[in-house]
Amino acid sequence: MDRLAIHGGPKAIAEPLPGTPGGGHGVSLLGDEEVAAATEVLRSGRLFRFHPESRVRHFERAAAHWIGVEHALMVNSGTSALICALSGLGIGPGDEVILPGYTYIATAAAVVAAGAVPVVGEIDDSLGLDPLDVERKITRHTRAIIPVHMQGVPARLADLCAIARDHDLLVIEDCCQCIGGRYRGRVVGTWGHAGAWSLNYFKIITCGEGGLVFTNDDLVYERASFAADPALPMWMRDATPEEGWLSEPFSTQCYRPSELLGAIATVQLQKLDRILAHTRSLKQAFLSALDEPRCYALQHVDDPEGDCGISAAIIVRDAELALKFAAALTAEGLPCGTAHNDGFPDRHIYRYWDSILGKGAHTPAASPWTDPRYQGSTEYSIEMCPRTLDILDRALRFGFTMTMQVEHARAMASAINKVDRAFG
Ligand SMILES: Cc1ncc(COP(=O)(O)O)c(C=O)c1O
Repeated sequence: MDRLAIHGGPKAIAEPLPGTPGGGHGVSLLGDEEVAAATEVLRSGRLFRFHPESRVRHFERAAAHWIGVEHALMVNSGTSALICALSGLGIGPGDEVILPGYTYIATAAAVVAAGAVPVVGEIDDSLGLDPLDVERKITRHTRAIIPVHMQGVPARLADLCAIARDHDLLVIEDCCQCIGGRYRGRVVGTWGHAGAWSLNYFKIITCGEGGLVFTNDDLVYERASFAADPALPMWMRDATPEEGWLSEPFSTQCYRPSELLGAIATVQLQKLDRILAHTRSLKQAFLSALDEPRCYALQHVDDPEGDCGISAAIIVRDAELALKFAAALTAEGLPCGTAHNDGFPDRHIYRYWDSILGKGAHTPAASPWTDPRYQGSTEYSIEMCPRTLDILDRALRFGFTMTMQVEHARAMASAINKVDRAFG
């Protein structure tokens, strides 16, 4: 048997894996095209979105076409895209929204911003929302579910959408980490009533900061647009339909993006297919090079064909072994830790959502939890989703980046094979 590097043997990955320029996949491909697009906007002096040749509008149309959806609205972040989706669907005070305990805090924060109460559900071996726990957590106050497609992997959408249908609930898909992922042939975000992308620096495509909310529903789109810009009826005077708005205009916040964001996002969208082709080829090479596992199971992926291929995860038998596994892999040249690392308050894990667990609000009267219209009794604690913490304690995650080639992905797999053989 090969001697493990942690015990003085040769490393499975002799050369360090290629690093990334920080950020996500899109940032690795930033080039002259983005520079030219941004420069053109600056030279034109037209940085405000409402004009006939708007770059933001152009991006919205191109994104809607790519996704295969009727409407897309660009906003300034993924968080605001989720807030606009919730507002567009009429979710607010008195409502509960179920979301997974493994997602960026912004998913829960968006629910609070809309005035509703986040209810935290367990994840399962898909590292996404567990449909069985969703069913357990539905109350008469539940209005919606937010499946989150973490790290490019589509959640268990068929089961979650079936539950939503049975209980007459709305579905908002958080696709911030899964731009371009598919589920049973359809782009994620189109299974629910609305979907949200983040275009921040760490995402599959990026314009630095930005977001997109999309839907097939005319009314939801119109209401999401009101939620994104209090002066929309004024800016869109010419675009106002002959017969007027579908609903009464309302005002909340302003999430309007600049033309610079629209221009850069348009170029990045043109690179999306290339990015996904690369990451998928890496994950495919990685999976094909893995031996039959002895002491771990691969993360369940409900639709492998739709996986963006930006990550893979293995789930080890127990937490103690997971730590040993991670240390051995790091020594082999594949730096990793468990997904649930006590030493670092990772805001992707509910136990570190301090402002949510503490039911914080910017004024006491704005608290969704004490709002008199809220008749439920949602309580939070660090221990409330033990299965989520247990799975994250045992999960090791690996990323596939634009700077890697298939040989790197195969080398990653060979490091895992070697450690698994030693521990198995
Ligand atoms: C799953 C998820 N949801 C929502 C967001 C919020 O996106 P943004 O940072 O663009 O507001 C993020 C961003 O990291 C995310 O990963």
